[in-house]
Amino acid sequence: MNTFYVTTPIYYANSLPHLGHLYTMIVADTVARAKRQRGIETYFLTGTDEHGINIERAAQKAGRTPQEQADYVVSYFTKMTSEFGLDTAHGGYDIFMRTTKPFHYEGVSELWRRISKAKTPKGNNAIYKGHYEGWFCAPCAEYKTEDEYQKPKNEGDPPTCLIHDTPLDRVSEESYFFRLSDYDEALLSVMETRPDFVRPDYRRNEVMSFVRGGLQDLSVSRLKTSVSWGVPVPGDPAHTMYVWFDALTNYITAIGFGNEERQKAVGFEKFWPALHLVGKDILRFHAVYWPAFLLAAGIELPRAIVAHGMWLDPNGRKMSKTLGNTIELDVLNKYFSNDAIRYFCLREMVFGQDGRFGYEALIDRANSDLASGWGNLSSRTLTMIARYCDSRIPSGLIPEDKLLLAKRTGVDTDETTVAGFIEHARDQFVQQFDNLAFSKALETAWSVVARIDKMITDAKPWDLAKDENQKQTLGVVLYRAAESLRWLSVMLYPVMPEASQAIWKQLGLDGSPAQVDPTQLKWGELKEGAAIAEVQPVFPRMDKAKIMSEITSGPEISTESSAPAVHATQADAVGITSFIEIDDFAKVDLRVGQVLSAERIPKADKLLLMKVDIGEEQPRQILAGIAQYYEPEKLIGRKVVIVANLKPRKLRGLESQGMVVAASYGEEGRPVIATFTEDVPNGARLK
Ligand code: MSP
Repeated sequence: MNTFYVTTPIYYANSLPHLGHLYTMIVADTVARAKRQRGIETYFLTGTDEHGINIERAAQKAGRTPQEQADYVVSYFTKMTSEFGLDTAHGGYDIFMRTTKPFHYEGVSELWRRISKAKTPKGNNAIYKGHYEGWFCAPCAEYKTEDEYQKPKNEGDPPTCLIHDTPLDRVSEESYFFRLSDYDEALLSVMETRPDFVRPDYRRNEVMSFVRGGLQDLSVSRLKTSVSWGVPVPGDPAHTMYVWFDALTNYITAIGFGNEERQKAVGFEKFWPALHLVGKDILRFHAVYWPAFLLAAGIELPRAIVAHGMWLDPNGRKMSKTLGNTIELDVLNKYFSNDAIRYFCLREMVFGQDGRFGYEALIDRANSDLASGWGNLSSRTLTMIARYCDSRIPSGLIPEDKLLLAKRTGVDTDETTVAGFIEHARDQFVQQFDNLAFSKALETAWSVVARIDKMITDAKPWDLAKDENQKQTLGVVLYRAAESLRWLSVMLYPVMPEASQAIWKQLGLDGSPAQVDPTQLKWGELKEGAAIAEVQPVFPRMDKAKIMSEITSGPEISTESSAPAVHATQADAVGITSFIEIDDFAKVDLRVGQVLSAERIPKADKLLLMKVDIGEEQPRQILAGIAQYYEPEKLIGRKVVIVANLKPRKLRGLESQGMVVAASYGEEGRPVIATFTEDVPNGARLK
């Protein structure tokens, strides 16, 4: 059966979604739509990577359990996919994969068992138990070799991660190892015999030279005492699987590997192997570790691994919250149509290379290519059909007796000229699209827009309309324009599903461009005499000055020109990238409280138990994780800020009826309780 399987990385559930995540999803969504349009049964996976020390840490910082943390972040991801039209309801992904699903545990355990029974190509056990000591970067979730860290300035200090600039942890523990070092030749042979396995070719070269440089065995477990949030190693629950082993395996567990139910619902044999779309930042995991695991388990390798570049700000700098140059998803969603964002992403970034993303550039492209380009071609053509042809598609043929007349106007009477042009463009477009050269493919489509625009301008339909004898000539020009619009709607559907559908409908066509295979398009199938629908602009022009001033004057929303506006907060630490409305803030009931009593809790060295008066009949019982930093006695009598409408929850069997507000700073998240320097009564509300 003709099937296709495309995946995005599964994103860490420790921080909120941003443009980078949105981007890979847009690319995968576009690929999936293009395949479906060609009649290929397609499965599209995206999701979240929910285990590991980083999620544990983020959860701890945010005062949540790891599962709560994952659920919290996932709710933002699914909100994003729905808003940007990428979820199942909008014809997008087939599964939002989560590594905390029980079926994933089953599948990943099965893979582990298989590999632990396997021999490497050099005849050794693929997994063995050893001892590991090394410098570990928690944010990267990997051990770093000497060339991957910055040596410390002062002797005795730990080295720092080259990517994160944070100190590395010295980790020494019993660990299971995957004998990656035995897979170098096997991997090189795959990459030599399948030149398309890793793409683009310059990335393939990088991966090959990395492998040629010698592979080190990979530690694939951590003691449960150091990382507990993860899948236990089958037969040895004192160990937790390395998060990348767990995460990469999602690509096969999602479709049924190691689980009957998923197998029935989707089908491993039906869809595997996949095309993996990844950012260049995680290519090594996908192009070296993952194929090696699969080789060891005797599972077919992926169809291909394609690495794209990174989005930078308009000045070419990496986007980061500290620089204040990130693109806010809420802003994108508020001011731009999904289609405009998709078009910009695919047109602006040469797939594989880094690209620059800025609101101004996005507005410029939306105005020039969409509003004045495809959108204008569509509305001028349809408006003229409404005006001059009584809203009916005219005939595309000039009768014999009118040929000479038509020739005199300069209109090409041979319809195969324009048909040939657009067929050639379509072939090129499809080929470029199949090669994931989206930017080129869109350029090709725009060569059609330009050509048809010029045809209209040269033919001057408004003049032809004045001459009754040129009615057929006028009709032919408009027919060609309308038929080209039909072709463009089909070609551009995967990139701009909403606009394509809208233009399709305005042309009076039934069904959807989603169901038309572009390779099967035939010139002239637009039916003469069919009624067009009401003409509406598909891409309204954007008022750049107005929108930019709104975006830049928004609270702390950064743009290319604004100064960094960031305060290190707890929220920042868990990756808040979106802003809330004042009404959202109003939902939080913050009250002035006074600590009446405070005491330590036996066997809970972090918690203090407090009674706090917030102006109610009874004082609140509140537990706070501040015992390591505050002497209980010193807190008595102190004015504090309490979140009064926080759902009560039990900690160590004691109910906490609210939360004390504190700043948190430094590596260890040291708390500093918020207080008042002026007199204020208990129970006063903070607004
Ligand atoms: N959880 C791992 C992936 C496991 S896959 C089995 C992970 N997650 S991540 O949240 O860090 O997401 C990384 C991916 O997000 C990148 O590979 C890329 O797809 C996307 N991007 C993150 N930042 C990006 C840009 N600035 N630009 C483009 N894409 C980026 O790594």
